[in-house]
Amino acid sequence: MSKQATGGEVVAPPEGFAPNSGVDSYDKYKVMYDRSLADPKGFWSDVIKEGGLHFEEDFDQSKDVFSYNYHHTKGAIDISWFPGGKTNLSYNALDRNIEQGRGDQTAIIWEGNEPTDSATLTYQELKDLVCQIANYLKSAGVKRGDRVNIYMPMLPELPATMLACTRIGAIHSVVFAGFSANSLSDRILDNKSTVLVTTSGVLRGKKLIPLKNIVDDALGLCEGQGHSVETCVVLENKHALTRDNCTFKEGRDVWWEDAVLSQPKECAVEWMNSEDPLFMLYTSGSTGKPKGVLHTTAGYMIGAYTTVKYIFDAKPGDIYWCTADCGWVTGHTYLTYGPLLNGVTTLVFEGVPTYPNAGRCWSIVDKHKVTQFYTAPTAIRSLMGFGNDWVTKHQRTSLRLLGSVGEPINPEAWKWYHEVVGNKNCPIVDTWWQTETGGIMITPLPGAWGMKPGSATFPFFGVKPVVLDEKGQEQEGACEGYLAIKQPWPSQMRSIYGDHARFETTYFKHYDGYYFTGDGCRRDADGYYWITGRVDDVINVSGHRIGTAEVESALDMHDSCCEAAVVGYEHPVKGQGIYAFVTLMAGAEPNDTLRKELVMLVRREIGAFAAPDAIHFAPGLPKTRSGKIMRRILRKIASNEYDQLSDTSTLADPSIVQKLIDSKDK
Ligand code: WT7
Repeated sequence: MSKQATGGEVVAPPEGFAPNSGVDSYDKYKVMYDRSLADPKGFWSDVIKEGGLHFEEDFDQSKDVFSYNYHHTKGAIDISWFPGGKTNLSYNALDRNIEQGRGDQTAIIWEGNEPTDSATLTYQELKDLVCQIANYLKSAGVKRGDRVNIYMPMLPELPATMLACTRIGAIHSVVFAGFSANSLSDRILDNKSTVLVTTSGVLRGKKLIPLKNIVDDALGLCEGQGHSVETCVVLENKHALTRDNCTFKEGRDVWWEDAVLSQPKECAVEWMNSEDPLFMLYTSGSTGKPKGVLHTTAGYMIGAYTTVKYIFDAKPGDIYWCTADCGWVTGHTYLTYGPLLNGVTTLVFEGVPTYPNAGRCWSIVDKHKVTQFYTAPTAIRSLMGFGNDWVTKHQRTSLRLLGSVGEPINPEAWKWYHEVVGNKNCPIVDTWWQTETGGIMITPLPGAWGMKPGSATFPFFGVKPVVLDEKGQEQEGACEGYLAIKQPWPSQMRSIYGDHARFETTYFKHYDGYYFTGDGCRRDADGYYWITGRVDDVINVSGHRIGTAEVESALDMHDSCCEAAVVGYEHPVKGQGIYAFVTLMAGAEPNDTLRKELVMLVRREIGAFAAPDAIHFAPGLPKTRSGKIMRRILRKIASNEYDQLSDTSTLADPSIVQKLIDSKDK
């Protein structure tokens, strides 16, 4: 990946786009943006009114629209929006659209792993299904505030199950169906849910993943820790794995078809308080186990609605495709909730972009007349590698807008996306945000201003970014430093499930009075923001966040491993690859068999996507006299940047640096 240039060229938005979009110029944006900060109550009240978002009880207009404490020295960190309001996300995403006459419009287009498999659900059909799932969950004892774990592939039933939970006020926790049994059990043990919704299996390309087997293992691990899941609902994904090929535990397991499809298609919504928990989603941090990021009802809903409306220029009739899996936050906000709140059609794709060939995405775009396409830089770079013919043999004339998310997009990939995929007719929205932020924070508004390839440009409404120096001082003008956010925005996370103290330490202790993002950032002389990547021990592999500590503790489990240290390094397709330094126990042989075993261990413990790309059998690790591993040095060695090792004098044994360089596979 090439390094960002300092200034960056400006690419004008396609002519004619802005006049038909919600915000047609920078000046108009500026007026709206300033108001969103100066008069948040007026701004967000208008958003709710114009969008016709339904509050069963309006929030208290006599109070501030939000209140907060960002100072850990002044008591608990606390954020709250829309005081006194009552609403329901599932109602606004489904019933409200039906009441507004969109019952027969397609809500979900499902495209299967095989190009011959697709199906659609109208808003009415989706609502019926959601009610059936909700009724089943209630009959299984799920109540408001209870947690429900979901471990499913990209079938329409996955977003439907999420909507069923939010309908009855249950807190969903979707676990990406690429996670291992271990990771799934860790998450269940953390939220102590007794209900799991899953699927027999899934085909990804030609590869069959027997999800139910993984679930059996995970639930067994939970039992071993004294927690039992009482109800496991299993959807039969017939084209991947039939019932007869699945295990079934009487008394615990129930088939979806029997349990759900016999339920009534009406289910009253539970009116939730603005700040009632909505869902949790586990994400990796720099230390310890993944944390359950907790989002709440009204703020998240309004954030999801507003960002899709303005950033994706969503209009009823649009066929919007976000390639993310619902197991990640993008699949929550930009595949499920945001699009449905805007009454558009959202596409759910079960397969992979390279099956049956590298033209699959563009063949889907033509088949379903996709208007907005939102994906990750890693996918763009990977498809770029297959050559332009796979793109140009498809029409792509329906495309109006392209989006990017998950990691910095290198200018080369940006240009290819813009010129080859979009024929220069589509603005590109490079959207910076995080699981924690709930929705997009820094982004172009399509058509409203010139884009700079590699820059996420300007803050969205209500977002007040600052660039801090080492000491936590705000910097003015063109500068580089740490990205923090100054005051709350509606869709911000409110806590870490079951560990509010960890929430406070992770995000508010670094810089008192700010939410700290963990990202580095540069602001250029034109005020454009350039995200430079994580500044903590979190790595971003193919847009998936992985904590180095998690990979290290998986490697440490191997009998031959004495100590492991993991860093990210530049990878041409994945953005970052995983580089593991491993020191061995006396007598252990540093050979390929051991290498494979170590990789397998990580796959088993976390999931295939976290498998190290390189294992370096190291003679020792660079440590300070107090025993702290100096990752800065390891990062340089992994990246072959030997001339930039800077000061190594604080190491207990400075000679280790040369030994590490010499022991590297050339
Ligand atoms: C981290 C958050 C947000 C959904 C997907 C990932 C990086 C995300 C961008 C972007 C540069 C980006 C940041 C951030 N990131 N989008 N457009 N440009 N970096 O969510 O797993 O919570 O990861 O992804 O480093 O902190 P996540």
